[in-house]
Amino acid sequence: MSVTRTLETDVLRDQDPELADVLFAELDRQSTTLQLIAAENFTSRAVLAALGSPLANKYAEGYPGARHHGGCEIVDVAERLAVGRARTLFGAEHANVQCHSGSAAVLAAYAALLRPGDTVLALGLSYGGHLTHGSPANFSGRWFDFVGYGVDAETGLIDHDQVRHLARNHRPKAIVCGSIAYPRHLDYAFFRDVADEVGAYLIADAAHPIGLVAGGAAPSPVPYADIVCATTHKVLRGPRGGMILCGAELAERVDRAVFPFTQGGAQMHTIAAKAVAFGEAATPAFGTYARQVVANARVLAGHLAAEGLGVITGGTDTHMITADPGPLGVDGRTARGRLAAAGIVLDCCVLPHGDGRGLRLGTAAVTTQGMGEPEMVRIAALLAAVLRGEAEAAATRAEVRGLTGGFPPYPG
Ligand SMILES: Cc1ncc(COP(=O)(O)O)c(C=O)c1O
Repeated sequence: MSVTRTLETDVLRDQDPELADVLFAELDRQSTTLQLIAAENFTSRAVLAALGSPLANKYAEGYPGARHHGGCEIVDVAERLAVGRARTLFGAEHANVQCHSGSAAVLAAYAALLRPGDTVLALGLSYGGHLTHGSPANFSGRWFDFVGYGVDAETGLIDHDQVRHLARNHRPKAIVCGSIAYPRHLDYAFFRDVADEVGAYLIADAAHPIGLVAGGAAPSPVPYADIVCATTHKVLRGPRGGMILCGAELAERVDRAVFPFTQGGAQMHTIAAKAVAFGEAATPAFGTYARQVVANARVLAGHLAAEGLGVITGGTDTHMITADPGPLGVDGRTARGRLAAAGIVLDCCVLPHGDGRGLRLGTAAVTTQGMGEPEMVRIAALLAAVLRGEAEAAATRAEVRGLTGGFPPYPG
C-alpha cells in the first residue's frame, strides 16, 4: 500500500467502518451547522495531510540536532522549517513550536520565569481570564498566587488604572495579558510600561489574537512581551497545538521549560502541520482573510446589537464577540442549547459584571468557508429569531443547512 493511499480516509473506511462513520458524521456536522465557536477554524487540506502523515510515527525528544532518539534527521528539517517560519511570521528572535497545546505553552512560560508561590497579576477568571490564569481547578491557581484585575463596569474595557494599582500593591513577578473572552485589542505598550515599573515579566497569552497578528489585522505583542504564548488552531488556522515566542535571551530557558521540564517527545506530525500553517499565514491571501474575519465580526456584532442583544464593549476589534442574550429574555445556557438545536454552534462565556452567562461567538471558521458581510447579517437575524422564540428549531436548522451548503469547508 502506498504512502499516499494511507493518507486517504477510504483506507479507514475499509479497515474500521465504525470509526470511519464517526469521522464522516463529524465532517457532516461541521459542514452543515454554523461554526461560531471563537476558538475553532477549518484547517487547510495541506495541514490535515501533514497531521495524518507518517511523521506521526516518529519519536523525537529534544531539539533539532540534539535528540534523544536516532533517525531524527528528516523530522529535524520539519521542526527547523516550523521554527524559522514562526520567527519570520511574527518577527521573533526565538520560537518554540513543540508545545502540545495553549495550556502547555502557558505552563512552560511560567516554568521558565517563575517559582511556585510567586505572585502573578492576570485578568480575573470572572472577566475572561483563562483557566491557566489562576483558576483554583488548574495548576496555575494551585502553584502560584494569582491576583486578578478586571474590566470597567460601564464599558467592559480593561481597567488600566486598576492594573497599575494592583501591580504597585502586589509587586507581581509576572503580569499576564490575554483572555478567552475579551473582544478588543490589548494595549501591550501599557502592560509593558506597568511591568517595567514594578520589575515584573510580561507574558502575553495571545492564544486568540495570534492569527490576526499573523495576518496584520491586530497589534503584535512580540515587541513588548518577554514571552508570548499562543495556540496554533484558532484564527491562525493550523493544527491543534501551542507555541512560544520570545527574545534570544530567554530562548534556552523557554526550550528547557518545554522539554524536558513539562513535556516529553515532540509531536512531529503536528509540528510539520504547524510549519504548513505558518507558510500559509505568510501569504497575502491570509492577510485578506484576517481582515475579512474582523470585518465579518464587526458586522455580526452590529447586527446582534440591532437585534437587541447586549454586545459587550459595544463591538469588537477582533474575530470575537461577547454578547448578553438577556434583553431577549433568555440566559446564556438556555440560548446556547436552543441555538445548537437550530444548528448554530457557539459557546457560553462569563459576563463581566453581569448575571449569569453570556454568549461568545467568533467569525474565523465561517470566514474560512468564504462567508462575508451578507451572511453575517443573515446569521444575526437567524440567531435572534431563535432566541426570541419566533423560529422553530427545525425551520432554522433547514435554513442553516441551506446557508452552509453554499460554503462547504472542504469542497468535493
Ligand atoms: C487565552 C487562552 N490561553 C490558553 C488557552 C489554552 O489552549 P488549549 O485549549 O490549547 O490548552 C486558550 C484556549 O482557548 C486561550 O484562549
